[in-house]
Amino acid sequence: MARQILLEHISEPGIDTFEVYRKKGGYSAVEKALKTMSPEQVVEEVKTSGLRGRGGAGFPTGMKWSFLAKPEGVPRYLVCNADESEPGTFKDRYLMTRKPHILIEGMIVSSYALGANTSYIYVRGEMMPQIRILERAIAEAKANGFLGKNILGSGYDLEIYVHPGGGAYICGEETALLESLEGKRGNPRIKPPFPAVAGLYNRPTVVNNVESIAATVPIINDGGAEYAKLGIGRSTGTKLISAGGNVAKPGVYEIELGLPVEEFIYSDEYCGGIANGKRLKAVVAGGSSVPILPANLILKTIEGEARLMSYESLAEGGFQSGTMMGSGGFIAFDEDQCIVRNTWNFTRFYHHESCGQCSPCREGTGWMDKVLYNIEHGLGKYSDIDLLVNVAKNIEGNTICPLGDAAAWPVASAIRHFRDEFEWHVSNPDESMTRNFGLAHY
Ligand code: NAI
Ligand code: SF4
Repeated sequence: MARQILLEHISEPGIDTFEVYRKKGGYSAVEKALKTMSPEQVVEEVKTSGLRGRGGAGFPTGMKWSFLAKPEGVPRYLVCNADESEPGTFKDRYLMTRKPHILIEGMIVSSYALGANTSYIYVRGEMMPQIRILERAIAEAKANGFLGKNILGSGYDLEIYVHPGGGAYICGEETALLESLEGKRGNPRIKPPFPAVAGLYNRPTVVNNVESIAATVPIINDGGAEYAKLGIGRSTGTKLISAGGNVAKPGVYEIELGLPVEEFIYSDEYCGGIANGKRLKAVVAGGSSVPILPANLILKTIEGEARLMSYESLAEGGFQSGTMMGSGGFIAFDEDQCIVRNTWNFTRFYHHESCGQCSPCREGTGWMDKVLYNIEHGLGKYSDIDLLVNVAKNIEGNTICPLGDAAAWPVASAIRHFRDEFEWHVSNPDESMTRNFGLAHY
């Protein structure tokens, strides 16, 4: 069994309660940090750990913390991004449901390191049960002296508030999230300035993903150097992966970074292969925003090296033959799945969720949605395929926030790797919506 850090004791009855979590060693990171470490030492440990943002961007967490502006007499904030909405991604929801106190403990440690006395957990609006679970966990932590004034006699004060989102995907983008938290429409802001300088209420703010914040607990307990021993190269530690699509055993798995993709898919410890004995056709490895890869390229790089579950290995080959770790939303497609239909499905989502501020994204996602609809429904032309590539190219890099890129990459990569399927839809309009695609040449 692979080493479990975040998911340790996850099946223990009552681990969602303060009592059981504490009995299993919970809140020892808070005790250690507040009683024996300065905030700067906590930041150093996180830097040493090499932890990278688990929401999707993989930005080094310790570095982000060290960018936080610290003007005298000005409040600063920690905001936890629990707006998890990336299609194929459900790891944060799982952690918050089953082990909410690890997030609260991580929030206390991280807020202390950043000098924040008020922190927020912004939870996706649809996750009402998780909102209630977190509120209960906060109340329990407070009743036991781990929140509020003068925590554990350290002189440090902290309040944590849970804030429900309104259900818009774009509110997971950190600056849209801050706008929403301020009570406004969730429109992304132009960066810079980054939230570390001007964030919530224009104050210095760190926005971190649920899993990143939870990971500070083992980092403080065991030390950053111990954490950094796990993983491979600059991909240190463990990562929660949401496995879905056609895998035999969908679910949330904690892997040590560096695990071969092949082992993740086929080993019984993880996905257990492809459901119903079918063959693997393609994978979206990091949530819908990252390029899709055919089976041969997700298992091995173009140089024939085994592809690993790490930030570097998944990106090996750039966008020509690689992809990204993203949020770890691992969606497998079996031999029967239609790439055109799936691409249209993703694009419809981005079209619907675009906030409309910038025209390449607002108009481009709409165009791609319409053209893909046509191809999928047997109404497409050969020239539509290049039109899609052209529209995607014109969106990429030309928008305020990454939603534009996220909409462009799946389309561009699907055509790069599965152009023949798009062409087949155009040349076989009558069968376009019904055909199952065999593996053919994959
Ligand atoms: P980003 O690369 O722009 O930023 C990463 C983080 O580093 C941000 O917090 C940013 O403020 C900070 N940062 C970067 N440069 C900085 C600097 N010079 N000074 C201070 N801070 C700096 O990426 P972003 O927008 O945070 O995330 C995009 C990723 O999110 C996508 O690649 C996608 O994988 C993922 N995503 C995840 C979702 C989920 O549900 N988990 C939903 C949608 C997207
Ligand atoms: Fe809004 Fe799309 Fe522009 Fe992001 S890229 S700000 S979602 S229009």
